[in-house]
Amino acid sequence: MPARCFRCGGEAGRYYLPHMRRMICRDCLVDFYEKKVRNTVLKYGMLRNVNTLGIAVSGGKDSMALLRVMKRLFPTLSMKAIYIHLGIPGYSDECEDVVRRVCGEMGVELIIHRVSDEGYTIPDFQHTPFKSRICGACGTVKRYHLNLIAYEHGIDTIATGHNLDDTVEVLFELYLRGEVDEITRIRPVSPGVGSKMAARIKPLIEMTEEENLYYVEATGTPYVESWCPLVKGSRMMRRKELIRMIEERIPGFRHTFFKSHVKRFLPRLEESSKQVQLRECEVCGMPTTSNICSYCRLRSRVLRAVEAYGKTGA
Ligand code: AMP
Ligand code: FES
Ligand code: ZN
Repeated sequence: MPARCFRCGGEAGRYYLPHMRRMICRDCLVDFYEKKVRNTVLKYGMLRNVNTLGIAVSGGKDSMALLRVMKRLFPTLSMKAIYIHLGIPGYSDECEDVVRRVCGEMGVELIIHRVSDEGYTIPDFQHTPFKSRICGACGTVKRYHLNLIAYEHGIDTIATGHNLDDTVEVLFELYLRGEVDEITRIRPVSPGVGSKMAARIKPLIEMTEEENLYYVEATGTPYVESWCPLVKGSRMMRRKELIRMIEERIPGFRHTFFKSHVKRFLPRLEESSKQVQLRECEVCGMPTTSNICSYCRLRSRVLRAVEAYGKTGA
């Protein structure tokens, strides 16, 4: 007998929600997903005071789901998609093609920035002290450019596709290491500061990886299936695998962990965290806590590597 959808009783097909231990059909999945995202956006007041929303798109399932669902739920909101081309051979071009296609189909303006225009690519970090932490360096590059593009294009808030699994994976690591200041930064909404630091929102923070995957598949939204080649075998991937194993044994583990963080720990941590004093970077003028921002320091390192070893990416 075919499995039944827990909402409508129709044939469920292959959509299974492990945290609920339920099967769901395609139409109910789309409806269920969109209601859940709307609920998250409203619950955390994510669109309060937003004039123009930037959607950070990587081409992967999460950010493609984000673009689709935000356009569906808030069709009159001014939105611009932002793609950072990181110069990873093959992968960055493939992602760009998908992002261009989806934005074109949805009629969303797309802003593309190529890091190679600045004289380096992400693979060039292989010749720097960051070679074992390329994803971390890449994260700084992406955060910096998303913020800079927002400033240059009148975008006041940036939405990213971080999902529940990403969030739990990072929290898991930070709690283990006791990184209290970093833990305080893991939240659904980060307010902007002045005109040079855009607010950040994570509308998919309560959605699991499988829910995002089902949503792009159920809505026929194109996405890049492959992982970034520099991420393969990383500690992050191994931690995600571990979290999936815990979830299998303790269904709902990810949701419980996240809820405890947001409801119980975050308010107390925010109360006791010290306000950081921001100033302008002496090199680029963007906000920073020290004389020179972490991006400008990173960039000068990688440019020195390019000078010594030549350029690796494309
Ligand atoms: P990641 O850091 O790869 O886990 O991605 C987290 C989120 O950051 C994605 O869901 C996107 O919203 C955004 N993002 C990642 N890579 C890019 C990129 N190359 N360009 C623009 N946004 C990105
Ligand atoms: Fe950043 Fe792969 S996308 S290291
Ligand atoms: Zn700087």
